[in-house]
Parts: sequence; structure tokens; C-alpha cells
Amino acid sequence: MSNFWSLFITILALANIVGCFLLIRWTAKPRPGEASADQTTGHVWDGDLMEYNKPMPRWWLWLFYLTIIFALGYLLLYPGLGKFEGLLGWSQYDAYEEQVAEVEQRVAPLFAEYAATPIPALAENSDAMDTGRRLFANNCAVCHGSDARGATGYPNLTDNDWLYGGAPETITQTIINGRSGMMPGWKPVLGEDGVKEVAAYVYQLNGRTSPNPELVEAGKQRFAATCVGCHGMDGTGNQAIGAPNLTDDVWLHGGSIEQIRDIVANGRTNQMPAHGDLLGEDRVHVLAAYVYSLSHPDGAAATPSDSE
Ligand code: HEC
Ligand code: HEC
Repeated sequence: MSNFWSLFITILALANIVGCFLLIRWTAKPRPGEASADQTTGHVWDGDLMEYNKPMPRWWLWLFYLTIIFALGYLLLYPGLGKFEGLLGWSQYDAYEEQVAEVEQRVAPLFAEYAATPIPALAENSDAMDTGRRLFANNCAVCHGSDARGATGYPNLTDNDWLYGGAPETITQTIINGRSGMMPGWKPVLGEDGVKEVAAYVYQLNGRTSPNPELVEAGKQRFAATCVGCHGMDGTGNQAIGAPNLTDDVWLHGGSIEQIRDIVANGRTNQMPAHGDLLGEDRVHVLAAYVYSLSHPDGAAATPSDSE
């Protein structure tokens, strides 16, 4: 805060208090000029309705004076007058830090217990999953949705279909370090027609019938020359680099022919931000178990394969 604003706030705050004091003094006294012999204000309504000109009761006045004394005391002890920090040295930041430390201390033993539990077992602990759900709502739902079903560009975490893999350690790594999915744009290489061909080929990989079968054959050649390095010979993808399976009708960026053409032409760099430093290992562990539980609803042990 600059000196000017500090002074501005100080003067404004004090002037208000002095103003209140003067206002009370002024309204508390009967006004000499207005008071008549019978102590009324002299105003008459409806022929006989008059108003006494009495000062306010003392106890009422003292309440006002007390609030003024309280305000001055408060401003002396706590920060309120511009840069002046108050005699107690109290600050919002310290108070916040203290509260955080207190909560941290209370939950630490609980998280330590969770940390020692393997993820598939933790995923069946309903208390831990309640905590996981809250952590997810606070940290992940903005992107993945409160139901974790994702949106265009943000993967669905409940369908057991994985870009990077759904094994417990893989999910943990994803949350700690984040991920970056890099699909290059191919328009400069393939040209508009080339993009149309290869998009037509991708369109029918999951069993749909392409409306342009003549493009598919040319697209197949293109795919084998350009795309297999990442998406694999059969188009089933590569979890090591997060290249999606193109044959399963689960689409990160949409499966219409226009959407496929768009991403093939222009590419996309998609970021899952790293959360390790932000949340710490113990919370990440609970979150990983929560994410794991979403695609293993009948209990972890019932589903032998972690990834597709
Ligand atoms: C700023 C948005 C954003 C936030 C916040 C976010 N994510 Fe993500 N997450 C993404 C994106 C985008 C991807 C896909 C990355 C890619 O395409 O390579 C992703 C991918 C993932 C994956 C990999 C899915 C797969 O199929 O392999 C997991 C698991 C995941 N996120 C969990 C979480 C969890 C848990 C949190 C909360 C701690 C979280 N994310 C917070 C955007 C976000
Ligand atoms: C360098 C590796 C790489 C190459 C080469 C590559 N891709 Fe990709 N592709 C990716 C990655 C990684 C993603 C996921 C992007 C993301 O995380 O958002 C992706 C995403 C896609 C998607 C979106 C899938 C979905 O679920 O929405 C399509 C379609 C696609 N690629 C088609 C192609 C085609 C066609 C080619 C060849 C012309 C190609 N890719 C070449 C890495 C690659």
C-alpha cells in the first residue's frame, strides 16, 4: 500500500468516528430555538398530535459512545488504519497459516495410515474415498467434471479407458508429474486432401462405415506412413506417450468427421498439470485411489486388468 492510500484510509476512518461523535452530541441536545414552553417541538399534526422535544435516553447515548470507544480500541490493537499494523501484531496471513497448520496436524495421522495402504485396498475404504471425493472436487473437478466424466479435451476418468494407463502407479505418476499429450498438426505435411483421406480412414477404425470409401483406401496408406509411429500399426495407440486408441469409440476431442479432421489438421497439445508439489504425496495417494475406484466400482479385486 502506498503512503498516499495509507494516509487516505487513516484519515477517512478517523474522520468517520469523529463525525459520528459530533453527530451524537448534536442530536442529543434539545435545540434551544425550537423548544417551546410546553417542551414540544412546536409541530402539530391532525389538530392535536404533538411531538415532545426530549433528549435521547442516557443509556441509549452511552451505547453509542461505547461503540466509538470500541472502534478506537479496535483500531489501536488490530490493523485497520492504513499501514499501521496494530499493537497486537495480528495479521490475516498468520491467522490463516495457523489454522492450516492446525488442520494439517489433525489429519496427518489419518493420511499416514492411508499412505501405508496399497491403492486397490484404499479404494475400498469408504472413509478414505469420502476424503478422495472432497479432494477431487477441490482440485480436479474444474477440468474433469464433478462426476469425473470429463469433457471434450478432458478425459473421462470413470470408463477404464486410459490415455496413459490405469495401473495404480501410473495414475499416481500422472497426478504427481502431470502429462502432456502432443498430437502434431498434419496439414502442412499432408495438405487439405491428405488430411481428408487419413481422417476418413480414422473415422471407420472403430467399425463405423465411412461415407467416402474412396478416401479410406488412400487414408490407409497415409496412416501407415505418418501415424503408426505413435498410434500403432492397428491404431490402438501407445500409453507411453498418451497417444489414444483410435479404434474404441472413446474420443478425447470428439469423433465426428469434422472433429477428427480438425485435430489431424491442426494437432493439439493437451496438458494435465502436475499436482505433486501442490498436494503432497499423501493426498496424491488418496486421490489416486479415488480415481482408481471410479473405474473399479465393484471393488478393486474384482477387476483383474488395470488398463486396456
Ligand atoms: C487444468 C485442467 C486439469 C486439472 C486441474 C486436472 N486435470 Fe487431469 N487431465 C487434464 C487433461 C487435459 C488431461 C489429458 C492430458 C492429455 O491429453 O495428455 C488429464 C489427464 C488426467 C489423467 C490421465 C487419464 C488417462 O486416461 O490416462 C488422470 C488420471 C488425471 N488427469 C487425474 C487428475 C486428477 C486426480 C486431478 C486433480 C488432482 C486432475 N487430473 C486435475 C486436465 C486437468
Ligand atoms: C508424435 C506422435 C503422434 C503422431 C505422429 C500422430 N499422433 Fe495423433 N495423437 C497423438 C497424441 C499424443 C494424441 C492425444 C492428444 C491429447 O492428449 O490431447 C493424439 C490424438 C489424436 C486424435 C484424437 C483422438 C481422440 O480421442 O480424440 C486423432 C484423431 C489422431 N491423433 C489422429 C492422428 C493421425 C491421423 C495421425 C497421422 C496423420 C496422427 N494422429 C499422428 C500423437 C501422435
